[in-house]
Amino acid sequence: MSQPVPIGTLPPLGEVPDTMYAQVVRADRFGDPRTAFQIEEVEVPPLKPHEVLIASMAAGINYNNVWAARGIPIDVIAIRQKMGEPYDFHIGGSDVAGIVYAVGSEVTDVSVGDEVVTHHGYWAPDDPWVAAGKDPMLAPSAAIWGYNTNFGSFGQFCVAQDHQVMPKAPHLTWEEAAAPSLVGTTAYRMLFGWAGNELQEGDVVLVWGGSGGLGGQAIQLATIHGARAVAVVSNEERGEYCKSLGAVGYINRNDFDHWGVPPHWTDGPGQKEFTAGARAFGKAIWDALGERRSPNIVFEHPGELTIPTSGFVCETGGMVVICAGTTGFSASVDLRHHWVRQKRLQGSHGTNDPQARSYNDLVVAGKIDPCVGDVYSFEDIGAAHAGMEEGDANLGNRVALVGAPEKGLGKQ
Ligand SMILES: NC(=O)c1ccc[n+]([C@@H]2O[C@H](COP(=O)([O-])OP(=O)(O)OC[C@H]3O[C@@H](n4cnc5c(N)ncnc54)[C@H](OP(=O)(O)O)[C@@H]3O)[C@@H](O)[C@H]2O)c1
Repeated sequence: MSQPVPIGTLPPLGEVPDTMYAQVVRADRFGDPRTAFQIEEVEVPPLKPHEVLIASMAAGINYNNVWAARGIPIDVIAIRQKMGEPYDFHIGGSDVAGIVYAVGSEVTDVSVGDEVVTHHGYWAPDDPWVAAGKDPMLAPSAAIWGYNTNFGSFGQFCVAQDHQVMPKAPHLTWEEAAAPSLVGTTAYRMLFGWAGNELQEGDVVLVWGGSGGLGGQAIQLATIHGARAVAVVSNEERGEYCKSLGAVGYINRNDFDHWGVPPHWTDGPGQKEFTAGARAFGKAIWDALGERRSPNIVFEHPGELTIPTSGFVCETGGMVVICAGTTGFSASVDLRHHWVRQKRLQGSHGTNDPQARSYNDLVVAGKIDPCVGDVYSFEDIGAAHAGMEEGDANLGNRVALVGAPEKGLGKQ
C-alpha cells in the first residue's frame, strides 16, 4: 500500500497514493471547529464514471463547514449514511484550486495535469429533472459540494463531478484561485439568476456584509454590470475596503439598534420604534447614494436580524434575495409592505454550470479581485473556521494551503 505524501508536497503527476491526509470531522467531536476538525490518514476513494480526482493545492474556507463541524442545522454525515454512503466522517471544503490527478471512465473534457478550480453545484447525473434540461440546483438531488458531499478540498485529494471543473485563472496564485468561486458563483446566481429581477445597469444594490466573502464578490459583480452597490459593514475600515472594490458608499450597522424580529403589528409603540430605525437606515442608503433611491436588489445572508429591515427598504417591485441565515432562521416579513409594494423575497442556493462559468470567465479575464484575506496552514483549518464563526478581523476570503508549500506559487 503506497503511503501519503507530506502536506505541502505532491506525488508525481497521475500517481495517486492509496491514502492521504485530510482534515476530518466526526460526529463524536461535533462542536467548536477548533476541535471538530482533526488531521487523519484516510483512503483516497475510487472514482465514479463522471468524477475527477484533484490534488488540492489550496482550499477556500467557507461558512458552510462551520455548520458541518457543529452538526447543525443538519448532520451531514448521518444524512449521507442514510443515503447509503459507507463513510462515518466528513471531509469538507467547497473551494479548491488544484491539479487533476485522475479522471473517471466517462470524463471527456478534463485531463490529468489540468490546473483547475471547481464550483459547488452538485447533482446526480441521472436525476430526471437534470436530464430534462431544467435548472439542476432545483433538482431533488441538488447539493453543495464539500458540504453535503464528502471528500472536499480539505483532503490532499478531492473528488468533484466533471461538470463542476473550470479552468484556473493563469494569473492567480493557488491561494488566490482557491478563494472566490463558492461565494462568487453564489453571488452571480443571486444577482442574475432570478428572472424578472435580474440586476440591471443603473440599479441600486444593498449588500449586507460587504467586506465578507459573498459581499466582496457581490459588490464587484454589481459594479462591473454598471449598478451601484451600497455596502453594510461594522466599521469604517471595512467600509473603505468595500469602496476599494467599487461600492459607492457604505453604512455602519453599529449606528443602528433596531435589529431583529420587530414587535407584533398590534404593538403600536413597538412598531413605531422599529419603523423609525428602519427609516433612518433607509435614509442612510440615500445619503450613501447621494439621491433618494431605494435598492432594486437587497443582497441578504445575515437573515433573522436584518430581513425585516431589508424588506422595508427594498424598492417597490424589487427583490430581497437571500442565501443564508447566519444570525438565525426565524425571519419575519411585514406583509403590508410586501404585497402592497409587490416585493419579492427570493431564496437562492448554490450555482448552476452556466452561472458558474459566466462568473469564472470574469475571474479568468482579471475583472474580479478574488479578495484573498487570511491565509492559513493545513493544520489551522479548524482555527480558520472558528475565526470565521467568531467574526474575526478578516477581510474577504480565507484560504488554507494544502499541496502548495507556501504562498505566492501557481501563477503562470
Ligand atoms: N446558499 C449558498 O449557496 C451560500 C453560499 C455562500 C455562502 N452562504 C452563506 O452565507 C453566509 C455568509 O457567507 P460569507 O462567506 O459571506 O461569510 P463572511 O465572509 O463571514 O461574511 C459575512 C459578513 O456578515 C456580516 N455580519 C456579521 N454579523 C452580522 C449581523 N449581525 N448583521 C449583519 N451583518 C453581519 C459581517 O460583516 P460586518 O461585521 O462588517 O457587517 C461579515 O463580514 C454564511 O452563512 C454562508 O454559509 C451560502
